[in-house]
Amino acid sequence: MSGRGRFITFEGTEGVGKSTQLQQAAATLRSAGIVVVVTREPGGTPMAEAIRELLLAPRAEAVNETTELLLMFAARAQHLHTLILPALAAGQWVLCDRFTDATFAYQGGGRGVSTDRIEQLETLVQGDMRPDHVILLDAPVEVGMARARKRGELDRFEQEAIAFFERIRAVYLDRASKSPAQYRVINAVQPLDSVTEQVTLLLREIISEAMTD
Ligand code: TMP
Repeated sequence: MSGRGRFITFEGTEGVGKSTQLQQAAATLRSAGIVVVVTREPGGTPMAEAIRELLLAPRAEAVNETTELLLMFAARAQHLHTLILPALAAGQWVLCDRFTDATFAYQGGGRGVSTDRIEQLETLVQGDMRPDHVILLDAPVEVGMARARKRGELDRFEQEAIAFFERIRAVYLDRASKSPAQYRVINAVQPLDSVTEQVTLLLREIISEAMTD
C-alpha cells in the first residue's frame, strides 16, 4: 500500500444513515489493517466544533447566507489543515461525515449561493485537494426526514422545508452523475444490511486499488 492515506467522505440529505455506515466502514478498514481517522463536518477539531455549534443552533436572528457559507469554510480550513491533511500525510485513511459536497448541496442548492462563489472558497481553502471517494447515500427526502424527526430536537438545517432538501438531493445527484469515478450513489432505502454490504464492497475495491498503487 502506498504511503498516502485515502480521503473518503459520506454525504446525503438528513436521516439517510451516514453515521451508521461510517462506523461500519471504519471497522471494515481497520480489520484490513488500515489506520483510520473518523471525523465530521462542520467540526472535527475543538475550534471547528465550536463553529458547528454556532451554525446548527436554531436562532431568532436570520442568518445571512454569506455568513453561513464563510463559517462552513472557516470550520473546514481549521479541520483540513490541522487534522485531515496531517493524517493523510502520515498514511492514515480519513473517513469524513460530510465535506465540501455538502456546501454545494446545502448552501448552493438549498440557499441559492452560486456555484462559482463556492468554487472560489473551495480553491482558497483546499487548493486542489478533493476527496478520493464520495459515498452518497440517497433516499427520498420524506424518508430521511421522518428518521431525523425521530431523533428528537431538530437543528437549524433540519427545521427547513421539504423543498429545501429536494434541492439539496438534486445537487448531490447531479454532482455524482458528472463524476462517476469519484462518486458512488447507494440507495439508502434498502435494508440496513444491504446498504452496509454495498459500502463494504466499494471499500474492498478501494483497498485493492490502494494495494496496487
Ligand atoms: P449532520 O447533521 O450531518 O451532522 O450535518 C450538520 C448539518 O450541517 C447538516 O444539516 C448539513 C449542514 N451542512 C451544510 O449546510 N454545509 C456544509 O458544508 C456541511 C459540511 C454541513
